[in-house]
Amino acid sequence: MSGFGLERKIAVVTGASSGIGAAVQQAFLDEGCRVANLDITTPPPVQPGGQADDQTDGERSLFVATDVTSDESVFDAVAAVEEWAGAADILVNCAGIIAKQPVDETDFATWDRVFDVNLKGTVRTIRGFTPQLTSSGTYGRIINLSSMTANFGLETYSPYSASKAAVSNLTKVAALELSPFGVTVNALCPGWVDTPMAASGLIAHLAKLHGIPEEEAKERVLAFIPQHRFIRPAEIAHAVLFLASPLAQAVSSTELRIDMGLTQTFTPGFHQVR
Ligand SMILES: NC(=O)c1ccc[n+]([C@@H]2O[C@H](COP(=O)([O-])OP(=O)(O)OC[C@H]3O[C@@H](n4cnc5c(N)ncnc54)[C@H](O)[C@@H]3O)[C@@H](O)[C@H]2O)c1
Repeated sequence: MSGFGLERKIAVVTGASSGIGAAVQQAFLDEGCRVANLDITTPPPVQPGGQADDQTDGERSLFVATDVTSDESVFDAVAAVEEWAGAADILVNCAGIIAKQPVDETDFATWDRVFDVNLKGTVRTIRGFTPQLTSSGTYGRIINLSSMTANFGLETYSPYSASKAAVSNLTKVAALELSPFGVTVNALCPGWVDTPMAASGLIAHLAKLHGIPEEEAKERVLAFIPQHRFIRPAEIAHAVLFLASPLAQAVSSTELRIDMGLTQTFTPGFHQVR
């Protein structure tokens, strides 16, 4: 435990079975929280250094198979968490998908799919968990995974970037609406994080687009990044711990960029090839 004051808090993490969500749920467990993991797939893997027991005893951790694109599934998850723990204190929305699509090749089925998960999925969980998060009247936390792409144009990622801009704006609206209850709402805007979505998915895609080996595509992506490395999921989880902590009561409606300065230096072009 590292003094964030989160012991025994009830945290709900969507998209908890992979990447950033898996790191976030482990970080909450390490801080002494009880964690409800919601994901469309199987429960999250035990992280290095984590205790297998943490994720199997129903006291510390709960897994609820949940599809954030379904009203019914999210309401069932809300009920399961209430039955398990009474009321959630913290909601972290990590469930997300990505799609690469130039504007002039728009296929609205793709837009609908991306917005249903990234934006409406976030709205669904906020709507569902708000009665629990506001119940203390003094403390509650919502942290939404937006993206660096919310704030600048990343060519050919139109549905994803637009969905994340919407998540960032939703964050600001919810922050104002929930402030009377002591609930803070913030967004994280990461750059490239070493997860299945980025490290394998996007690199493979860019390699294919440019007709170059994946290793070369990776090197070219890393050349854009000021520290020439991907962000570790645990680094995102540390920011989540701070925003979730009582220490951050005054921090609301923000977008925290975690990108090593990438968005200050970004040079367009690499993603443009189709
Ligand atoms: N990896 C990056 O570089 C990066 C950068 C910026 C923002 N983000 C955002 O962070 C979040 C997590 O990304 P990640 O890299 O860990 O991705 P990931 O693919 O590793 O994990 C995403 C998780 O969301 C779950 N999910 C997908 N659709 C779902 C649904 N309908 N219902 C419930 N769960 C669903 C998946 O099963 C998976 O476990 C996403 O919102 C992503 O857009 C990622």
